[in-house]
Amino acid sequence: MAETYRALVVDKQGDDVTTSLVERGMDALPEGDVTIRVAYSSVNYKDGLATLAKGGVARTYPLIPGIDLAGTVADSKDPRFKDGDVVLITGFDLGVAHDGGFAELARVPADWVVKKPDGLSLRECMLFGTAGFTAGLAVQALEAHGVTPEKGPVLVTGATGGVGSVAVSMLANLGFDVAASTGKESEHAYLKSLGATEILSRDTVSAETRPLDKGQFAGAIDQVGGDTLSWLMAHMKYRGAIACTGLTGGIAFKSTVLPLLLRGVSVLGIDSVMCPMAERPVLWDRMAGDLRPKHLTDEIAVETDLDGLGGVLSTILKGGVRGRTVVKLA
Ligand SMILES: NC(=O)c1ccc[n+]([C@@H]2O[C@H](COP(=O)([O-])OP(=O)(O)OC[C@H]3O[C@@H](n4cnc5c(N)ncnc54)[C@H](OP(=O)(O)O)[C@@H]3O)[C@@H](O)[C@H]2O)c1
Repeated sequence: MAETYRALVVDKQGDDVTTSLVERGMDALPEGDVTIRVAYSSVNYKDGLATLAKGGVARTYPLIPGIDLAGTVADSKDPRFKDGDVVLITGFDLGVAHDGGFAELARVPADWVVKKPDGLSLRECMLFGTAGFTAGLAVQALEAHGVTPEKGPVLVTGATGGVGSVAVSMLANLGFDVAASTGKESEHAYLKSLGATEILSRDTVSAETRPLDKGQFAGAIDQVGGDTLSWLMAHMKYRGAIACTGLTGGIAFKSTVLPLLLRGVSVLGIDSVMCPMAERPVLWDRMAGDLRPKHLTDEIAVETDLDGLGGVLSTILKGGVRGRTVVKLA
C-alpha cells in the first residue's frame, strides 16, 4: 500500500477555518477495521457546511470531509470484508466526526460498510451518493404511505440540487407526474429533461399562504424546509404526504394543525445518516434496479478531483450547483 495519501483537510484555529490539500502518512489514518482505497466520493451540501466555522457539521478538527465514498478494500480486520471487495459508505460519522471520503485512503468501522450492489459501478454509486440514497429513502417513504401515480402529482422542491435532481428522475421513471420547483430560471429545460412536467418558481412555493389552500399535490419531496415547507403543508391533497429531507431554505416553518386534521396530511421525516444497516443494501439494490434514474449519467453529474474540490464546495453553499458532482480520487 502507498506510504502516503492525498486528502483535503479542514482545520480550525480559534475562529478561523482553513481548507487545504495535504499529503499524509499512513500513520494519520484514523481508527477502524477496514481500510479502503477510495475511487470516488461526491459533493453534498453538508460537505460545504463542514468547511464553515459555524456550519454545525464538523465535530472534530483537523477533519477530512466527504460524507460518502466508494472504493476497494485494501485491508480488513473484520471477517465480513476482504481485500479487493468493492464497497461504499454513506453517513454515520463519515466526514463529520471521522475522516471522510475526500482522500485517496480511508479507514472506517466495518459496521458502516455496504457491499457495492451489482449493476452499479463505483462511479455510479457516487453519482447517487448520499443525495441519491436520500432521494431513494424519500421515494420509498412516499410509496409506503400509499402515494401512487394515480393519486396526483408529486412536487420536488430545490429540484436542481443533488437530492432534487435524483428525486425528479426517480419519480418520473416510476410513472409519477412530477412538478419541480427551482430558484434557477435557466434550468427549466434541465428539469424537463429529467422528467418534470411542471415547473414552479422558488418564490411561488415559499410565498405567504393561508393554513389551507388549494390541494394540489399527492406527495412532495422537500429538501428546502423553511417557508417552502409551510407552503407545502397548505397545498397537499387529502391524505397527501411530504417527505422532508433538507433545510437549504431554513429550519423553522410555520403551519397549523389544520392540514393534519382536516386533510390527513402526513409529514415524513427522512434521515439517511443513521438509516439502519439492514435497510441499506435493499435500497441500493433498488437503486440499481427500478429506482435507477434514466439520467444517472453526465446529464445529472459532473466530475471533479481533489484539486477542483475547493471551488465546488464554495459553489454548493451558494446554491449554485446543478445535480451531482462526483469526486475522482483513484
Ligand atoms: N435528511 C438527510 O439524510 C439528508 C441527506 C442529504 C441531504 N440532506 C439535505 O438536503 C438538502 C439538499 O442537499 P443537496 O446535497 O441536494 O444540496 P444541493 O445540491 O446544494 O441542492 C440544494 C438546492 O436547494 C435549493 N436552494 C438553495 N438555497 C436555497 C434557499 N435559500 N432557499 C430555497 N432553496 C434553496 C437549490 O435548488 P433550486 O435552485 O433548484 O431551487 C439548490 O440547488 C440539504 O439541506 C441537505 O443538508 C439531508
